[in-house]
Amino acid sequence: KKSVRDVDVSGKKVFVRVDFNVPLENGAITDDTRIRETLPTIRFLIERGAKIILASHLGRPKGQVVEEMRLTPVAARLGELLGKPVAKANEAIGDAVKAQIAGLNDGDVLLLENVRFYEGEEKNDPALAKSFAELADLYVNDAFGAAHRAHASTEGIAHHVPAVSGLLMEKELEVLGKALTNPDRPFTAIVGGSKVKDKIAVIDNLLNIADNLLIGGGLSYTFLKAQGYEIGKSLVDNEKLDLALGFMKKAKEKGCNLMLPVDIVIGDAFSNDANTRVVPINEIPADWEGFDIGPKTRELYADIIAKSRLIVWNGPMGVFELNPYLNGTKAIAEACAKTGGYTVIGGGDSAAAVEKFRLADKMDHISTGGGASLEFMEGKALPGVVALNDK
Ligand code: 3PG
Repeated sequence: KKSVRDVDVSGKKVFVRVDFNVPLENGAITDDTRIRETLPTIRFLIERGAKIILASHLGRPKGQVVEEMRLTPVAARLGELLGKPVAKANEAIGDAVKAQIAGLNDGDVLLLENVRFYEGEEKNDPALAKSFAELADLYVNDAFGAAHRAHASTEGIAHHVPAVSGLLMEKELEVLGKALTNPDRPFTAIVGGSKVKDKIAVIDNLLNIADNLLIGGGLSYTFLKAQGYEIGKSLVDNEKLDLALGFMKKAKEKGCNLMLPVDIVIGDAFSNDANTRVVPINEIPADWEGFDIGPKTRELYADIIAKSRLIVWNGPMGVFELNPYLNGTKAIAEACAKTGGYTVIGGGDSAAAVEKFRLADKMDHISTGGGASLEFMEGKALPGVVALNDK
C-alpha cells in the first residue's frame, strides 16, 4: 500500500482523514493523544508545502449538528501543538468550505467541521463521498482509529480521488500487522475485559498465532465456570460455556499455552470501599463476586511477560477504575513496562489503564484504535485500509 511518502504533495490540496474523536469535558479536551499522534503526518505535509484539509468525526451526533460536538476546541489545541494557526470551517462540504480552501497558502492547515453532522457520513453515501473528494487532489487516511468504519470520509472518498495512508496509519498497520504475520517469539497475548462476547473473535484468532494467551478480567469467570468451578456472583455468560471449553481444546491443538487466573480478588461491592479477600479459584464463596486477578496470577503472568519478546495486550484484568480492584491491571502494566520484549497496547481500556498508572512512555506502541485495533487483531480487513490506492 502506498503512503503519503510515495506521492508528490507540494502545492496540492490534500484531504486528510484523522481520528480526532477525543474525550471532551465541558468543552475542554481531557486527552489529546490522538491529536498528538497525527502531528508527524501534518508536519510532513506542511514541510512539503501541501494545502492541508483535515477531517474528523467527534462523538456520535447521528447526522445532526450538535453544538457540543463541534471541532472548534480541537482546532485550537492542534494550533497550539503545531505552533501555527489552524483555520476552522463551520461545515465539512459546500461553497463556503471551497472558498476557504481556495484561500489557503501552501503549508496552511484547515480543519473541517465534524463529518458526522451529515447523515451521509455513516451511511457511506456516495454523494457525500464525492463532495469530500471534490475538495481535494489527494486523500490521505491517517484515521486508524476509525478504519473499521466504512463511512463516506473513511472509505467512500477513496473511490473518487487518489488515496494513500498517512504516517500514523502506516505505523499502526506495520506494528499490528507484524504481530499477526511474523511475530518475534515467544509471543504473548493478554486478553481481558468484562464481556466474553466482545473478545470471542480476537481469542479465536490469537490462539492460531500466540505462544501464550493470558486471560483475565470479567471474561475469565466464564472460562472458570466452564471448567466446573464455583464462581459465586461473578460476571458470567452462560451461553458461552461450551465456546470457552472449545477455546481450551483449540489451544491444546495449536500448541498455545492458554492460562487462566489461579487466584481472584473477590469483593462484597462494586465500590471504592468494598471489603475484599483473595481466594484460590476453587474457593470462591457463592455469595461473593470476583473483580480482579489475585497476586499469584499476577506473578505467573508477569513471569511470562518478562520472558516474551512480543507482548500484545487488550483489555484490563479487573475493575481498574476502582481502587480495591486495580492491582491486577497495574501489575500487568508494570510487567509490560519492565520487560525487554516489544509491548503493544491495544487501544481503548488498556491504553487508559496504562495512562492511569503513568506507564504510557514505557510502552513501545499504544494503538490509537480501540475498536479498530480489536478488529485488526481479529484478523478482519479494515474497510478504511482496503479502500486505499483503489484509484
Ligand atoms: C473510536 O473512538 O474508537 C473511533 O473514533 C470510532 O468511533 P465510533 O465507535 O463512534 O465509530
